[in-house]
Amino acid sequence: MPKASDVVFVDGVRTPFGRAGEKGVYWTTRADDLAVHAMRGLLDRNAFDRAAVDDVAVAATTQQGDQGLTLGRTVGMLAGLPKSVPGYAIDRMCAGAMTSVTTLAGAIAFGAADIAIAGGVEHMGRHPMGFGADPNPRFVAERMVNADALVMGKTAERLHDRFPDITKDRADAYAVQSQQRYAAAWAAGKLQPDLIPVEVKTATGWDLVTKDEPPRPETTLEALAALKTPFRPHGRVTAGNAAGLNDGATMSLLASTDAAKQHGLPTKMRLVSFAFAGVDPEVMGIGPVPATEKALAKAGLSIDDIGLFEINEAFAVQVLAFLDHYGIPQDSTKVNPWGGAIAVGHPLASSGVRLMTQLAAQFADHPEVRYGITTMCIGLGQGGTVIWENPNYSASAARAARKAA
Ligand SMILES: CC(C)(COP(=O)(O)OP(=O)(O)OC[C@H]1O[C@@H](n2cnc3c(N)ncnc32)[C@H](O)[C@@H]1OP(=O)(O)O)[C@@H](O)C(=O)NCCC(=O)NCCS
Repeated sequence: MPKASDVVFVDGVRTPFGRAGEKGVYWTTRADDLAVHAMRGLLDRNAFDRAAVDDVAVAATTQQGDQGLTLGRTVGMLAGLPKSVPGYAIDRMCAGAMTSVTTLAGAIAFGAADIAIAGGVEHMGRHPMGFGADPNPRFVAERMVNADALVMGKTAERLHDRFPDITKDRADAYAVQSQQRYAAAWAAGKLQPDLIPVEVKTATGWDLVTKDEPPRPETTLEALAALKTPFRPHGRVTAGNAAGLNDGATMSLLASTDAAKQHGLPTKMRLVSFAFAGVDPEVMGIGPVPATEKALAKAGLSIDDIGLFEINEAFAVQVLAFLDHYGIPQDSTKVNPWGGAIAVGHPLASSGVRLMTQLAAQFADHPEVRYGITTMCIGLGQGGTVIWENPNYSASAARAARKAA
């Protein structure tokens, strides 16, 4: 029977991310077409027999209209997979794509699939967060949760309340760092190799989107200090230290170790373990902590074994709560070395595979690192963590790095 360690991340890609809304680059692009672009890009750069894909899972949070209709199946057909390849849709809000990966990884580990495609899409311009949602009134009426639990920005304010050491100044400093690290990674050409350009229709004709639209490299602490706090008067969460509202899609190719060998596919990462955990929905941002505890325990690892972290930056406060829990400095170069969602954006259900794609690229640059983590908080009070092993790991590179430190 295969084990989790027999599941490999072959490759990951994404579309450039856009700003949601009428002025955003993807306003005239269908949500499913974003996912189709990502899948075609993934297939274009991985030559293997398409009929060997056993299943496709594509996530979205708001599964309506052009973002509905069991996306794994529709996107697979539109991207040119044979009709014999099945597919389905996934929803675990922000961790949609992460759950597409873990669900299909489970199928691979069980032996029910050998090769699978997992991704996510969120067009927050065409499908605004919470649009058409009808939360059961019992949640609030029976005091199961406070009404704040349903508004992510309010949950971030509550996390600031819970951890008074995480001040607005610290959150803003973290946000500036994210913008600067993203800009440096872009300038160094780190992000471009995994971007799939998207043709879009504009008022004057067709254009090609090759760059992320959300980053604001000019961000300063002074400008952030002056921003409004939309979720609470005199609050701490602003448009500058939160991820924005974005459009984008991601896609990844997974395989069993044997199938990867058989089809001549590379191994960018090996799956070690994964876990999801629930927390109080009012402070959903703390979710990555118990999820990481569970995933580490399953792997028999400790946090000190982890050499690289890709943590989704829904809000700066939620990243800082994770880092403080583990005593990791907020400027650690092990954490989001290429910036995060505060800069690049967070098209909800797509983001999990962006984290994985970036970790895979960093693994190639860091043979001294053996294990890395992708982790994220999830609406309604959850966290998800996936631990990966670096196939490029070299014990001698690790010894040399320890000596140099
Ligand atoms: C915070 C939030 C409400 C802001 O939305 P918005 O008002 O549409 O955001 P904008 O991009 O228009 O930014 C608001 C203002 O801040 C400014 N701003 C944003 N980022 C900035 C930065 N880094 N530096 C300087 N100014 C900045 C904008 O220029 C804008 O200024 P203006 O009002 O003068 O035009 C929205 O981004 C949000 O809800 N984010 C969280 C998303 C979320 O919950 N995701 C799920 C997580 S679980």
